[in-house]
Amino acid sequence: MSAGFQENVIEEIKSRCSIVDVIGRHVVLKRAGSNYKGVCPFHNEKTPSFVVSDAKQIFTCFGCGASGDVIEFVKRYHNLDFQGAIEKLAAEYGIEIKKNEYDKESKKAIYYEINREAASFFYRRFTRSINPGIEYMKKRGLDPITLKKFGIGYADEKWDSLYRYFMEKGTDVKLLLELGLVSQSKGRYYDKFRNRIMFPIINTRGKVIGFGGRAIGNDVPKYLNSPESPIFYKKNNLYGLNLTRQDINKEDYAILVEGYMDVISLYKNGVKNVSASLGTALTENQASMLKRYTDHIVLSYDADEAGQAATLRGMDILHHIGCKVKVLHIPEGKDPDEFIKKNGKDAFLQLIKKSLPFASYKIQRLKQKYDLHSTEGSVMFLQETAKILRQLSPVEADVYIKKIANETRISEGAIRLEVYGTNMENLNPKIRDNDSFERKEDDKKTEKKSDDSKLLLEKNLIKLMLLKSSYVPRIKPYETIFQNPFCLRIYELIQSLYADDEEIDRKKLADALEPDEYQMLISIWRDVHLADRDEAVFSDCISHIEDGIRHKREKEIIQILSLADEDMDSSVIEQLTRELMEIQKQKMQR
Ligand code: CTP
Ligand code: MN
Repeated sequence: MSAGFQENVIEEIKSRCSIVDVIGRHVVLKRAGSNYKGVCPFHNEKTPSFVVSDAKQIFTCFGCGASGDVIEFVKRYHNLDFQGAIEKLAAEYGIEIKKNEYDKESKKAIYYEINREAASFFYRRFTRSINPGIEYMKKRGLDPITLKKFGIGYADEKWDSLYRYFMEKGTDVKLLLELGLVSQSKGRYYDKFRNRIMFPIINTRGKVIGFGGRAIGNDVPKYLNSPESPIFYKKNNLYGLNLTRQDINKEDYAILVEGYMDVISLYKNGVKNVSASLGTALTENQASMLKRYTDHIVLSYDADEAGQAATLRGMDILHHIGCKVKVLHIPEGKDPDEFIKKNGKDAFLQLIKKSLPFASYKIQRLKQKYDLHSTEGSVMFLQETAKILRQLSPVEADVYIKKIANETRISEGAIRLEVYGTNMENLNPKIRDNDSFERKEDDKKTEKKSDDSKLLLEKNLIKLMLLKSSYVPRIKPYETIFQNPFCLRIYELIQSLYADDEEIDRKKLADALEPDEYQMLISIWRDVHLADRDEAVFSDCISHIEDGIRHKREKEIIQILSLADEDMDSSVIEQLTRELMEIQKQKMQR
């Protein structure tokens, strides 16, 4: 069997190409029982001894002994080898042939070889004689050793230097076009890279997969890159990693930069654990590639808009796959190359030390984005910050919550509530399950306690009204507080007695009550002592009630906010958050 084909292609051909159909196009077949008969195409005969079995999908000649399956027939009849027969049948029956990995690799090897030759062609141009390329790189502060290390080359300004070089070697121009080394226009071929510094892009297996070419003059684009090709997927590779991965592994962190020159310049200045995402935002593939060597990434993208957008996206991707990300800020909007050239290695290492962890960086940006002196700004800030903090472990989040509360007008409580919703247990259902039994017991106790204090509150209020009827209208606004059925009944009677003549006739009240309610009245009268402190008790009661109302409202708002999704009207969220912050402020003041 030929190594070049997948087993399933052969199976598919055998099942889809009916042998009677295939042979019937060349040999006249006549039905004979369950088989077909014809004159053998493989030897001279007059009476048919060539039998084709539809059921077994084979042919046999009883005259010459030829026999086999459909592939064997095509091979013999058309004088083809096995591969040829497969290809013929596949083409006739519209079956797609996928070459196996081995074949793909050997095809790739041809591309790699061409790129390797192109790289050394550019390298020779760069090193052999005085040329604008080497002049330019020297001006940018790079030395021959570094340049050699990165295989830097030069593409001269002629139209067809590289094209002619490959033509002399007899290379198929189709391959050069596919690799983007050569372009075609009006029937003529010309070099894609001209008068440019050539940066070979080399994968971690040491293969030249593409090129970046920087204009020496003011040509646009400043950087020209190889197009995607069968061996070059920009999104799957990182520039410089072939040289720097050991250093990344050793230092246990990688510095990720935007450009070719940043990589080379940092490397030259002794910061070797560096790589570049080839001008694009980091992709998931690139991120997981880096993660093979370290979990710690320092992003050092340009300070411009595009660079910052790339930072945010890259950060999320890296965080998502479990990397610890920091963001390095270079002052004065310089790029890493410019900075290290001017300030040296130690200054750059200082910047790394000062780089901001993922969450700090994001929160800092939010602080700049929103006006924290306005409520609206604070609300938006709070919401977006909470989203970030939710991604952190509770311990980490706590540090940030304290810090933000210190630096803004927003209380720790408000932040915490925005982050975790109604209760901390939302965070970790496991913890809740483990001690749920004790929790229930605890809950019962608290419930009992709060029931007692609620009843006492109701009793106090009734006593106040019984002592001085002037309290009746003052308590009315809080009447929903009366929940105990006996107290409620007493309260209602007091209200109606008051409505009659602004006095509470205790005798009338007692007469109107049922025995149980009367017992309650007796207990209030006997057990509740105000001792001339009626006004103080009244205000205590009221603030107690107000606390309760606030607490209830707080819980309610938290509930709403924790359920709020993107669709919720932001002005409603803002108003609720403002109210929540107000409530919490009042709580703090008490
Ligand atoms: N880039 C690109 N195509 C462009 C411009 C930029 O592919 N037209 C990519 C290159 O990988 C480049 C990186 O984006 O290295 C960063 O671009 P930029 O900041 O403009 O260049 P520098 O790296 O600063 O290059 P130099 O210092 O040579 O100007
Ligand atoms: Mn630069």
